[in-house]
Amino acid sequence: MITVNDLQAHPLDQVHRLIEPGPVILITTQHRGVPNVMTNGFNMMVRHAPPLIAATVGPWDYSYQALVETGECVVSVPTADMADTVVDIGNCSGADVDKFHAFGLTAVAGEKVQAPLVGECWANLECKVADTSLVGAYNLFLLEPVRAWTDPSRSRPRLFHHRGDGTFSVDGDVLDLKDRMTKWQYLL
Ligand SMILES: Cc1cc2nc3c(=O)[nH]c(=O)nc-3n(C[C@H](O)[C@H](O)[C@H](O)COP(=O)(O)O)c2cc1C
Repeated sequence: MITVNDLQAHPLDQVHRLIEPGPVILITTQHRGVPNVMTNGFNMMVRHAPPLIAATVGPWDYSYQALVETGECVVSVPTADMADTVVDIGNCSGADVDKFHAFGLTAVAGEKVQAPLVGECWANLECKVADTSLVGAYNLFLLEPVRAWTDPSRSRPRLFHHRGDGTFSVDGDVLDLKDRMTKWQYLL
């Protein structure tokens, strides 16, 4: 029988390193006509349809005010080959830097929101802020994609995930277990 004596206690302030979050994403905003982009690692899908995404954006981010005031953003999904740039984007602020220019990103006009798509990203989700009720307590924004785009020139590229300590895991092998998903056939 296993007891806790066989286990190792893990510091509570490092629990985030035990559960890999969703892929690292970029969140773009456009505030008073100026586009900006930030890196986000704490995010997850919440609902299939209509789709809903939860992402933490803290008041320390310049993007926070833009998100609160405009109620819009684009969730852009970068690929592993963009990891260096994505980390650099998350280590400077739109308060000081025109990040689209500094990082050579292509701002692409969307259809439903003012915030730009990132042309270099594999997927771009135009989002409306659907719920801010958890922002005060947790900086957690619920974002509803209202238009979604992917780059047809790439099939299923490799995304990357922050392991919470400056290291990243990259999507790798695919396990095809569709046959075992008997209860969830409609999702396949
Ligand atoms: C890998 C990585 C993951 C990050 N994840 C988050 C996150 O989930 N939430 C957040 O508020 N900031 C996160 N950040 C920090 C922001 O990207 C950073 O504060 C950025 O400078 C904000 O840009 P802005 O000031 O232009 O909005 C992350 C940074 C990196 C490098």
